[in-house]
Amino acid sequence: MIIAKTLAEFTEAYGKLEHKSDVGFVPTMGALHEGHISLVERSVGKCSHTIVSIFVNPTQFNNKQDLATYPRTLEADCELLEKSGVDIVFAPRVIDIYPEEDTRVFDMGGLDNYGEGPRRPGHFNGVVQVVTRLFDIVKPAFAFFGEKDFQQVAIIKYFVQKLGYPLQIVPCDIIREDDGLAKSSRNTLLTAAQREAAPHIYRTICKAKELRKSMTPQETIAELTKQIDANSELETEYIEIIDADSLTPIKNWSDSENVRLWCAVYARPVRLIDNIGL
Ligand code: PAF
Repeated sequence: MIIAKTLAEFTEAYGKLEHKSDVGFVPTMGALHEGHISLVERSVGKCSHTIVSIFVNPTQFNNKQDLATYPRTLEADCELLEKSGVDIVFAPRVIDIYPEEDTRVFDMGGLDNYGEGPRRPGHFNGVVQVVTRLFDIVKPAFAFFGEKDFQQVAIIKYFVQKLGYPLQIVPCDIIREDDGLAKSSRNTLLTAAQREAAPHIYRTICKAKELRKSMTPQETIAELTKQIDANSELETEYIEIIDADSLTPIKNWSDSENVRLWCAVYARPVRLIDNIGL
């Protein structure tokens, strides 16, 4: 496995790959956990070569403290990736990805109107900036993304089609801890009490499957919010019940055949997101 820490090192390593038309790509911001490794395993199983990027992308952080405290564990990450059969780890410097300021502003076609979009202004624009830049460099045939970031996957799929990238996005299931908490690099930032409380989020949102039999989507959201907030470690920022294709909230269950619930909950200052199909 080659660890390329600059664009020049990456270009040299990439040049030596035998099957450049069959590259699987897993973009990450590091602090890898089993969720990431499951994406890597999908890629290694499907593609001749697997490239993983580790880059904490400054343009997608709308909160400076979140960027400053984002866990950085390159050495441990590389050990995990080596065991998983990765060909190249691309861990570039900011200057390699943004030799000059990226001023591109993307129209998301309304996919950022709800969920994380209004709560993290500029976040998805930064994600599209970095992902398109990485796609241009890595030129993958397949790119693997976890569905924990459900809205991110939808937005990236949209731009792959809109900008005509010759690659396929492979969405991968959320990987959870045994107690149901969605795996996330941010989980390492939780205090012991918060970590104990956090599985309450998934346990509670799963109740929507039952509640929908007797409640409207709005009533369901109100009930779930009340139940999550009853735990003193947790504070719901939002719960939305949406059509999973248009990513817009539904008023009646019959408004969509592909219903998804997504949420963000604070275990302050950590912000946890999750989603389930209903
Ligand atoms: O999901 C992430 O970790 C990031 O948003 C991504 C896709 C690696 C872009 O920085």
